[in-house]
Amino acid sequence: MRNPSALSGLQSGAAAPGEPFRLGSRAHLYAFCRMLLDTHNPYRPAVMDWPKLDGQARDRLVSLPIWDIAVQTEGRARLNVASYAAGVADPLLKEAVALNAFEEGRHKHVLANLVQAYGIALAPEPEYATPRDPEWAFMVTGFSECIDSFFAFGLFDVAKRSGFFPEALVETFEPVIQEEARHILFFANWVAWHRRNLALWRRPFFELKVLCVWLFLIRERIGIARDVSNGVQDNNFTVTGANQLGADIDAAELMSVCLAENDRRMARYDPRLKRPSTVPALMRFALRFMRARPQEQT
Ligand SMILES: [Fe+2]
Ligand SMILES: [Fe+2]
Repeated sequence: MRNPSALSGLQSGAAAPGEPFRLGSRAHLYAFCRMLLDTHNPYRPAVMDWPKLDGQARDRLVSLPIWDIAVQTEGRARLNVASYAAGVADPLLKEAVALNAFEEGRHKHVLANLVQAYGIALAPEPEYATPRDPEWAFMVTGFSECIDSFFAFGLFDVAKRSGFFPEALVETFEPVIQEEARHILFFANWVAWHRRNLALWRRPFFELKVLCVWLFLIRERIGIARDVSNGVQDNNFTVTGANQLGADIDAAELMSVCLAENDRRMARYDPRLKRPSTVPALMRFALRFMRARPQEQT
């Protein structure tokens, strides 16, 4: 896993650097798998240095209502992605998806160490059930990360600028955030590649599956928003959390920061790869109305 290039020599179909390729082609598969494998950061959670925080900074961190849900989301993500990897036939794709699963498991270790370092109490973790439909589970995790990472990029920047996260903590956590940028870039390209490699008759079923995953995620998030009033933690925090991070910004400003950070984090990867587009497009669409409203009133 730590030397992921072992298979690369066996792979054919790679386009020359900068040479365009068709989405769904062998060259496309090669490019998005290599993107993930070649940019793997070999950090080890066990040796991460958690900076000492003063009382206030620590209290602010402890009081964020995200730790239970974050640990559980990473635990589930690891299992979902690993289950899908187990059934992938193509060796290069299998290696890349398995690395994605490894990194999800590592996120959980990072969070477990952070929680321990700062004395954050967690709710007991549920049993993680092996998914019956690994592709569905992989897609739920992938699209879910497309939503959460987009907002996490902006919130992380807000927390950095407001001083909510001390600089040392920002530095410690930065690799985890960037890893999610790689994951959603990988996933967006997997979707684009996968749908083009299905037999024609299977494509409508796949598109229906994509739609069902989005509906599932919307329902899940509405359900969680309802549970928050009953003391359950919130994975809508990524959408609602700016004020809790000590920043006096409105929703439109937050969305603008998210869009800018999303572009900045994606800019370092192969420009030929497809960028995650659904959530940024929805946010750009919403922003048009949010910015237009004050002018309409004058
Ligand atoms: Fe993760
Ligand atoms: Fe991820």
